[in-house]
Amino acid sequence: MTTRPEAWHRSAVIYEVAVHSFQDSNGDGFGDLAGMTKRLDYLEWLGIDAVWLLPIMPSPMRDGGYDVSNLTGVRPEFGTIDDVKAFVADAHSRGIHVLTDFVINHTSDQHPWFQESRQPGSPKRDWYVWSDSPDRYSDARVIFIDAHDSNWAWDETAGAYYWHRFFDHQPDLNFENPEVREAVKDAVRFWLDLGLDGLRLDAVPYLFEEDGTNCENLPGTHAYLKELRAMVDAEYPGTVLLAEANQWPEELLPYFGDDDECHMAFHFPLMPRLFLSLAIGDVAPVDDIIMRTPAPPPNSRWALFLRNHDEVTLEMVTESERAAMIDAYAPDPSMRKNLGIRRRLTPMLGNDRRKIELLNAVLLSLPGAPVIYYGDEIGMGDIHTLNDRDGVRTPMQWDSSASGGWSSADPADFYLPVVATEEYGPTAVNVAAQMSDPESLLSFTRHILQTRHDTPELSEAGYERLEVDSTSVLAYARDSVLVFANFSGQPQSVPANGTILAGNASLAEGSLDLPPLGWAWVRTDEQTP
Ligand code: NOJ
Ligand code: CA
Repeated sequence: MTTRPEAWHRSAVIYEVAVHSFQDSNGDGFGDLAGMTKRLDYLEWLGIDAVWLLPIMPSPMRDGGYDVSNLTGVRPEFGTIDDVKAFVADAHSRGIHVLTDFVINHTSDQHPWFQESRQPGSPKRDWYVWSDSPDRYSDARVIFIDAHDSNWAWDETAGAYYWHRFFDHQPDLNFENPEVREAVKDAVRFWLDLGLDGLRLDAVPYLFEEDGTNCENLPGTHAYLKELRAMVDAEYPGTVLLAEANQWPEELLPYFGDDDECHMAFHFPLMPRLFLSLAIGDVAPVDDIIMRTPAPPPNSRWALFLRNHDEVTLEMVTESERAAMIDAYAPDPSMRKNLGIRRRLTPMLGNDRRKIELLNAVLLSLPGAPVIYYGDEIGMGDIHTLNDRDGVRTPMQWDSSASGGWSSADPADFYLPVVATEEYGPTAVNVAAQMSDPESLLSFTRHILQTRHDTPELSEAGYERLEVDSTSVLAYARDSVLVFANFSGQPQSVPANGTILAGNASLAEGSLDLPPLGWAWVRTDEQTP
């Protein structure tokens, strides 16, 4: 078994990758694990600590691979089990940890378990959630509102309805069944035996159902996650479980347990508020949610993000806030998906470098492990007319060639097309050009990651809110490191003393001058300015 240093996740910066779009090594137009290995030089140079691979299991790919047809295998286009091992070994040799998605709540309807389950009299009938009527669990919300208006679908072969929290081709597993609980544990073992350092547990709030509840965050779900954690701690010490739960902070906190459930959980409600605060030039939305966020137990961490492979989910804001965000960031209906916005970071922010740097400076200095979405470090664009959320999952742009250098296949055979606009196509946005330009967004990203590494307070210290005389400046202390972020288009001045570690503000005679959308990390000897 690989030796995994304990608690590496506490100071990690995680890089999220859609493997199918990162690097194609064999010219079939589909990114793969051998391609990932080839690009490890880049990831090491960039200075991230961990890579999170989106699902690589066999899948009909009707939900970006979150529709898994075999929980213990690799989709051949991604490569083989040996390719996983080779990638993990090479990553480890560079001090990079590897997490992958584990789709725990549901499978594809093509999974043999479901195919057996639907057969009349099947011993596996009880592996999924069946019902004679579509009225059960009626208090559970529908998540993919653009695709469905019910969480039940009729199956002709079974002569019954099955329960699905996501697409109707993704039946939910029945965690009431001890056989399912064991089979899922075995699948977790399968992945961790390959040497992975962690699993992102997809859609964890929905494992159990119960009439009269919204079927989210139920006690059975937490009990099972605790069992899984105990198993992981005993059999794979140092392995991290990352909970994907789109919930309010108070509902998220129990996913850490008493440092005995998931090591990390995404902080969903923070993310839209960062964009909202920027749109209105007022930090109140961000400040409110931070004040409402309890500190996790000592060994646990929030996972913080600006963008990911999904839409910007807007479940965790009020209707008027949602309207303000749609107005500011998704004027065209094709930019919207379900309750959210399907755009990448840079186009959402109008390609305004100041806004991109500001939000990254906040992301990288709030308590938690920052997650960076591939391509956002070079300011990639999106294609919001592609199906579902594919528009934010297009190929990585490595060089200025029309294909962006990610694949030698005929572009007609690319799994997803490369962005082709003048503003965001490979000529304008690519890794090679930005690597050799010290002023590029990529150079900025690499530099700020280095500064974060050299500033351990940003991983370990608590959060202390600082009072400043401006509604557009977010100000906080992480021990002796002070952070000031100006969310408005007007210059702001705040009292501060110390040395600037990073940022574009100037500090003299006890006053920090922040340009419009400016920011600073300041090391001080005093606790408050
Ligand atoms: C959350 C994933 O991030 C998303 O891409 C997927 O569609 C759903 N879970 C269902 O697995
Ligand atoms: Ca390939």
